[in-house]
Amino acid sequence: MSDTPRPVFPHRHLLGIEGLSALDLTALLDLADEQVEVSRQVEKKKSTLRGRTQINLFFEPSTRTQSSFEIAGKRLGADVMNMSVASSSVKKGETLVDTAATLNAMRPDLIIVRHHAAGAVHLLAQKVDCSVVNAGDGAHEHPTQALLDALTIRRNKGGIEGLTVAICGDIVHSRVARSNMLLLATLGARVRLVAPSTLLPPGIEGLGFETFTDMRRGLDGADIVMMLRLQRERMNGSFVPSTKEYFRFYGLDQEKLSWAKPDALVMHPGPMNRGVEISSEVADGAQSLIREQVEMGVAVRMAVLEALASHLPNR
Ligand code: NCD
Repeated sequence: MSDTPRPVFPHRHLLGIEGLSALDLTALLDLADEQVEVSRQVEKKKSTLRGRTQINLFFEPSTRTQSSFEIAGKRLGADVMNMSVASSSVKKGETLVDTAATLNAMRPDLIIVRHHAAGAVHLLAQKVDCSVVNAGDGAHEHPTQALLDALTIRRNKGGIEGLTVAICGDIVHSRVARSNMLLLATLGARVRLVAPSTLLPPGIEGLGFETFTDMRRGLDGADIVMMLRLQRERMNGSFVPSTKEYFRFYGLDQEKLSWAKPDALVMHPGPMNRGVEISSEVADGAQSLIREQVEMGVAVRMAVLEALASHLPNR
């Protein structure tokens, strides 16, 4: 029998929350708690990724996700290269597989990928020799967002099990919702989905998630209210009559927030559409965790990179 300790995270890639166990998730969150402390020090530099090359390959625009992966890699000592589609050969018609082969030949250790097509990151992971992290693929998954949300909840509520989390808004187009549903259910939270019927994924009731089209009922008794951006770029056709109408029924303002528990906390992955899915008063109010989510984003990405680094070859 081998006495080699089980690695903190026994996977070479992080492609999604699907397939991860409660043990895997908790290990990453525990590691992320340590990175929060590192990030709050004056000297923020570690050497876990010294000598390693990290490529951030973003086929879709991103502000916080890309910058936090960059900061996370640099804090761990990696050389980080940002490659965005606007300046790459993809614009000249190169296929994803050719791009992957080209980058692979440069011998990176980690590739962080965001792509507009669901499944693109899995495909790329099969074509390269290094570790791959999914930074959002279409409406499929966004695992580090769900992890940073879980870290924020855990630090503020002391745990996740038994909490009622209401995920509200454009669920059908949201990779954030999907990854969060999987993660929160695995860690024992009760997940509710609150949205107009046009923005709820068809057949979702059968999967054990409670759905509500009435926001008052959906928020009643909620510990966490997680708002989602109306993803107009993913909508073809009309899903909501008008943004004004949407705000009236589904936009989180102080009055609707009072329907949740008195100590309920508000989250949003950003970027926010103020006055569409959330009011400024709530977004900037005392119950909002939105800024803290951004801080946790760096810590979670450091934890993920560090966990994957333990699988990188040393020779
Ligand atoms: C989300 C995304 O890109 O999936 N944003 C993010 O990563 N912070 C959510 C969104 O775009 O609404």
